[in-house]
Formats: sequence, C-alpha cells, structure tokens
Amino acid sequence: MTTQLSVNLNKIALVRNARGRNFPAITEFGEMALSGGAIGLTIHPRPDQRHATYQDIADLKAVVRRFDGKELNVEGYPDDTLVAHVLAEKPDQFTLVPDDPNQITSDHGWDLHQHGERLKPLIAQCQSAGIRTSLFVDPDLEQVRRAADTGTDRIELYTEAYAEAFALNNYEPLLEQYMQCADLALSLGMTVNAGHDLDLDNLGNFVARGNVAEVSIGHALTVEALQLGFAETIKRYVNILQRGR
Ligand code: PXP
Repeated sequence: MTTQLSVNLNKIALVRNARGRNFPAITEFGEMALSGGAIGLTIHPRPDQRHATYQDIADLKAVVRRFDGKELNVEGYPDDTLVAHVLAEKPDQFTLVPDDPNQITSDHGWDLHQHGERLKPLIAQCQSAGIRTSLFVDPDLEQVRRAADTGTDRIELYTEAYAEAFALNNYEPLLEQYMQCADLALSLGMTVNAGHDLDLDNLGNFVARGNVAEVSIGHALTVEALQLGFAETIKRYVNILQRGR
C-alpha cells in the first residue's frame, strides 16, 4: 500500500501563539498541505493549549471538508475536555496518546495491560459517533495484541526509537521489530499508522515494506520547510533593501 501523509500542524500553531494573533494561520498551512498531496491534517491539543487549541479542531475540520477525501486526525490524552471536543467536532480519526499534561511531547505508547479495559468503552463510543480510533503504542508485540482486544481500528507505532537508531546508522534490527508489529496488527484486523521524529531522511526506509497506512509528521517537517525556504527568503529581503524601497 502507498503510505499517506498526515501533516501535524502543532509547530505552526506554536509560532502563531507566540504573537497572540492569527499569524501564521494554521488553516492556510493546512490548505497548502492538502493541496500538496497530504491525505490529512493532525493536531494534538494539550490541556494548556500551548500550540494547537481546541478551537483549531473546528477550524481544521472546516478546512478538510473543503477537500474531497481528506481527513482530520486529532491526537492527545483522552481527558474529559478533549473527549468532549472530539465527540462534538467529530474528526475523522482520534489518536489516543498516554501523555501527561507536562510532557514536552509524547514519549511512550500505552501500557494496555494497565489501561486497555478502561479505553474500551471510549473507543466504542468514538466509533459509534463515526470517529475512527487509533492507539499510540510502542513497537511491542504484546501491546499490539492487547490493542486488538480493545477494538481499536488502528494503532500508531511510536517511531522515536527508530529515528534515533536511524541517525546512528544502526536501525535494521529495530526496524524489523516495528515491521513485525505492523504485520501482526494487520493480521489482527487493525490498520497501522506511525509517527514521531520521522523526517525526509528516515521516512523512506520505514514505509518501504508497504504495511504502514499513514504517517503523521510535524516537527521535522516544519524545520525542513524552514531549511528549504530560508535562503530564498533572505535573498528576497536583501533584494528589497538593495533596490532601496
Ligand atoms: N504522533 C504523536 C502521537 C505525536 O504526539 C506526535 C507529536 O505531536 C507526532 C506523531 C508527530 O511527531 P513529530 O512532530 O516528531 O513529527
């Protein structure tokens, strides 16, 4: 299968929030991402709304609905506030992540031995509201089996360990572990997403096997966009100043 890209807009939201007005507008960047071929947009509102806000869910839902077949994925810890917003706005996908409010970013998957039973009713509730569910999990076969027991539609494999190993050029055994998890998930009837620290260098090898349906990428994609556009932007500023107006 061809892996689809969901663009995580949290970092654009972070820059927006730095100035307290709607610039840059994440809806505009969302439109660019979808026009450029991304299947969808992702945001991860945290309780302090330090980057994506709850209002962004409704605003981005309106954006994706203007494009045929495009999707909104909301990810985050399923506390009462986020769950209420998700059930009200009905994104296409809700990715449940076990991060606590003070974490800088997600840094582990669910322990489904401990939390699987608790998540089951919420998963069923989302599904009956027409929202696909995904559980963020480490590349661990036991967690994948337990994910299937919850009834979730998908899992999202947490790829930071792969990205780290890739940077050290020693990723093949670990990649195999991820691929076994993906194959097991597929055999248990779930679809496989992946995300965290994927970038232009490490992405190709991760999706080569063809068992990952969707990747969600934000941090590196935003940095790479700056790197690819920075020199040209400097040139344009300098040109204006040299023209003297
Ligand atoms: N998946 C989950 C569950 C995340 O929390 C994040 C970061 O918000 C991502 C994917 C995307 O990671 P990155 O920003 O490193 O691309």
